[in-house]
Amino acid sequence: MVVPVSDLESQLQSLQVEAQGAIATVETLDALDEIRVNFLGKKGKISKVLGGMGKLDPADRPKLGAIANEVKKAVQGSLDQQREALQAAKIQAQLEAETLDVTMPGTYRPQGHKHPLNSTIDKALDIFVGLGYTVASGTEMETDYYNFEALNTPADHPARDMADTFYLPDGNLLRTHTSAMQIRYMEDNEPPIRIAAPGRVYRRDTVDATHSAVFHQIEILAVDEGLTFTDLKGTIEEFLFQMFGDVEVRFRASYFPFTEPSAEVDVRWKGRWLEVLGCGMVDPNVLKAVGYDPEIYTGFAAGFGVERFAMVLHQMDDIRRLYNSDLRFLRQF
Ligand code: DAH
Repeated sequence: MVVPVSDLESQLQSLQVEAQGAIATVETLDALDEIRVNFLGKKGKISKVLGGMGKLDPADRPKLGAIANEVKKAVQGSLDQQREALQAAKIQAQLEAETLDVTMPGTYRPQGHKHPLNSTIDKALDIFVGLGYTVASGTEMETDYYNFEALNTPADHPARDMADTFYLPDGNLLRTHTSAMQIRYMEDNEPPIRIAAPGRVYRRDTVDATHSAVFHQIEILAVDEGLTFTDLKGTIEEFLFQMFGDVEVRFRASYFPFTEPSAEVDVRWKGRWLEVLGCGMVDPNVLKAVGYDPEIYTGFAAGFGVERFAMVLHQMDDIRRLYNSDLRFLRQF
């Protein structure tokens, strides 16, 4: 039985009305896409109507094809228009949600800065790095060997006394000086060596204005062929010059178990001589302890307390101020 073309034509036209009605009220892009599939898709409503084409008089088929194209074009046009509108609305909503009101008052955040101990350490290390030194750091818990024995400190030396050193229950100890790093570094490295080793050290001191049971030191060690006392002097003078400015420097003969000869160094500061560090030529016994041949290599070493430097540089009268985190004090630096 032949179906009149007007039947299919009116079906297509009512599909167009149905589709455009749905498109006009849709609110999301996903729902819009569903409508597209539903009407224009391969298995959509329009294709279904066209499936009935076979029942038409063959002469009518091109006519229906032309009408179907018109309908598809109209539905596609509505889809495109609505998609654009929905996309624009989505962007608008996003922009509104992300609006930043730059006229709102800000929240004040107090700015932190370096602690005077850290800035003193950094300043000293910068100077030595500038002189070609490498920064090395080690452990705070040490063995008797690294802290004393390998540093040529005999068993009867007062520094080894229970009254001066924190010994741990397992027989280890808290290092009393950064000099222990000399041994650790030399054991792991071959000359030439130039290191600066900062760190915390521990002594059984009663806390007062100038003493603390925990404080900081920086250790300097250079080992090479042909290093002499004048290399030590030049290095220390350059360091103190960069640290304190153009001050007078004085070397006094002294004694340390791990250096020979040894010296203490003073700077002339505000009309007085202030002792600032200990130093000397590395004792041959120390070089031997790490397997260096003292006939080939010589070295120099120095050690100083960071707190003392900070106190002198900033004219502080009490070491405890460096530790109690009082912002009224720390803000001054
Ligand atoms: N270790 C010494 C101390 O804590 C400081 C010191 C003196 C270190 C002479 C050295 C040095 O490297 O050569 O008092």
